[in-house]
Amino acid sequence: MPNKWLLRVLLVLFGTFSGVLGAFIGIDIRTNVPNFPAASYVVALLKAHRITHVRLFDADARMIKALANTSIEVMVGVTNEEFLRIGQSTSASAEWINKNVAAYVPETNITAVAVGNEVLTTMPHAAHILVPAMQRLHLALVASNLNSKIKVSTPLSMDVISRPFPPSTAVFNSSWNVTMYMLLQFLKNTNSYFMLNAYPYYGYIQGDGIFPLEYALFEPLPSVKQIVDPNTLFHYDSMFDAMVDAVYYSIDAYTFSGIPVVVTETGWPWNGGANEPDATVKNAEAYINNMITRVLNNSGPPSQPNIPINTYIYELFNEDDWRGPVSEKKWGLFDTNGVAVYSVSSLGGYSDIPGNSTGVFCIAKEGVDPEKLRNGLNWACGEGHADCTAIQEGKPCYNPDTLEGHASYAYNDYYQRMHSVGGTCDFGGTATITTTDPSYSSCIFTGRSQSIRSSGTPFSSSKLAGHTTLRSLVSAPFSPSKLDGRTTLRSLVSAPFSSGKLAGHTTLRSLVTEPTVVPTLRPINNFDSTFCYPLLTLRPSLI
Ligand SMILES: *[C@@H]1O[C@H](CO)[C@@H](O)[C@H](O)[C@H]1NC(C)=O
Ligand SMILES: *[C@@H]1O[C@H](CO)[C@@H](O)[C@H](O)[C@H]1NC(C)=O
Ligand SMILES: *[C@@H]1O[C@H](CO)[C@@H](O)[C@H](O)[C@H]1NC(C)=O
Ligand SMILES: *[C@@H]1O[C@H](CO)[C@@H](O)[C@H](O)[C@H]1NC(C)=O
Ligand SMILES: *[C@@H]1O[C@H](CO)[C@@H](O)[C@H](O)[C@H]1NC(C)=O
Ligand SMILES: *[C@@H]1O[C@H](CO)[C@@H](O)[C@H](O)[C@H]1NC(C)=O
Repeated sequence: MPNKWLLRVLLVLFGTFSGVLGAFIGIDIRTNVPNFPAASYVVALLKAHRITHVRLFDADARMIKALANTSIEVMVGVTNEEFLRIGQSTSASAEWINKNVAAYVPETNITAVAVGNEVLTTMPHAAHILVPAMQRLHLALVASNLNSKIKVSTPLSMDVISRPFPPSTAVFNSSWNVTMYMLLQFLKNTNSYFMLNAYPYYGYIQGDGIFPLEYALFEPLPSVKQIVDPNTLFHYDSMFDAMVDAVYYSIDAYTFSGIPVVVTETGWPWNGGANEPDATVKNAEAYINNMITRVLNNSGPPSQPNIPINTYIYELFNEDDWRGPVSEKKWGLFDTNGVAVYSVSSLGGYSDIPGNSTGVFCIAKEGVDPEKLRNGLNWACGEGHADCTAIQEGKPCYNPDTLEGHASYAYNDYYQRMHSVGGTCDFGGTATITTTDPSYSSCIFTGRSQSIRSSGTPFSSSKLAGHTTLRSLVSAPFSPSKLDGRTTLRSLVSAPFSSGKLAGHTTLRSLVTEPTVVPTLRPINNFDSTFCYPLLTLRPSLI
């Protein structure tokens, strides 16, 4: 058997995947996190960091719309609940495609539909309907003539592989023998790809000391600790490469070839509970940056050097309401104010995410109707309750004394206070979002120096312990909307961290959740509420 595999691997190696395009790094976006910002803000954040690919875990209409005309490639998700509901109905599948995909293309560059998340391991009872559901969704795309641009696949976890190391002997768990065969045949026939959620963080923890941390973090291994596959003698520089190769060998064992593996989730938590000492900012920063460098070098894993490992980072924002171990909430690159948790370099190969970046500002557009701008300014300082003190005469932002400058300050102040509760950067079409901090000399725009909540403030174990509340024990352990995609993480950690899981919920939430910013409603000093900003109305020559 192993000899046969080797032969086939060699054939694949010289097969159809030479001359491929460069690899990409994408990012996973969960929209059901607390204080999820306005979609336009999220898209501005993505653009600011030159992110070219996103995976949405659902088909959030606001996000799909906001991604229109951006050229960002979008993977939309059929949630596990939707999959159960529509998977057995041809008309429901067609309806889903029409409503969530066909309605938005081509303005939104949707290129993939992910059907469920980790269905085989989280909902094994539904395994038999997975591929038929994918087929129905694919046929709906065919009917809309979208099938050549939009691929259907299903993200699976590493748990579908029984013994992932050494990669050359990895095989899919035979429990899913039939489903896996149908799945590979479907992916092959439709020119689609295998979606893998690969987490060296959990591989490292489960290895329980077998693997060096450097191996999980893409860091150089001491010569005495090289990881070599005894059958192929391939050296594995990282667990990530070994995981991807384990999937290629498992596919090969089913005598399929030419199905690329795309990593639809990977990441490292930057904070954890008392039992999660490896969930640190330092390790997360090392993992993400090294992973990006690794992926963008365009080579594949040892058995498939010509197939780049396109990869999506898990995830854009932290999930502070997620129940369970702290580490499950803390995978985000940003908080919902757009403040980076740690420095990420060369994302997408072009840009930097500076640590503590201040994110996004709302300013007046250039060249808009001065009358509209004045109305917007009056509204912001009046009903909008922006703090317009700094643009009064004698204050730091008064000069340059222009309508545009003053409106920018007021718009931004309103926006920083209100966007987390739904405030937009619009002002009758006179405002726009920017990632360039508009502050100058002593005029500091609101939002400049926010710092990330709880960053560098490790939770003390004494605070975590001893809070096994009845509430956390009796509340429904999994709310269905949260089940999607996280059960693997939970099931992986539930054994070692079961006490953390029980203790975590209420206590952790109260520790980590920042109070929602409630705008202070204060009297608007010295101003009539309709014309709260009369200075400029008296001096039209300035505009
Ligand atoms: C995208 O751009 C096209 C062409 O400029 C425009 O007609 C369309 O309204 C835009 N779509 C959205 C959702 O902004
Ligand atoms: C959408 O993505 C595909 C695949 O990368 C690309 O070829 C195409 O140009 C993109 N379309 C738009 C409108 O950006
Ligand atoms: C294969 O999957 C079954 C069903 O989920 C599970 O009980 C079994 O432990 C798995 N086997 C291995 C070797 O992982
Ligand atoms: C799957 O199961 C069938 C029937 O038990 C068996 O013939 C086949 O070899 C299995 N395939 C793999 C790849 O294990
Ligand atoms: C890319 O990274 C892999 C894995 O670390 C390494 O084996 C390979 O030599 C690198 N390729 C290039 C061209 O640097
Ligand atoms: C972010 O800010 C915190 C506190 O202000 C600081 O300790 C930390 O070093 C900063 N991180 C980076 C990457 O600059």
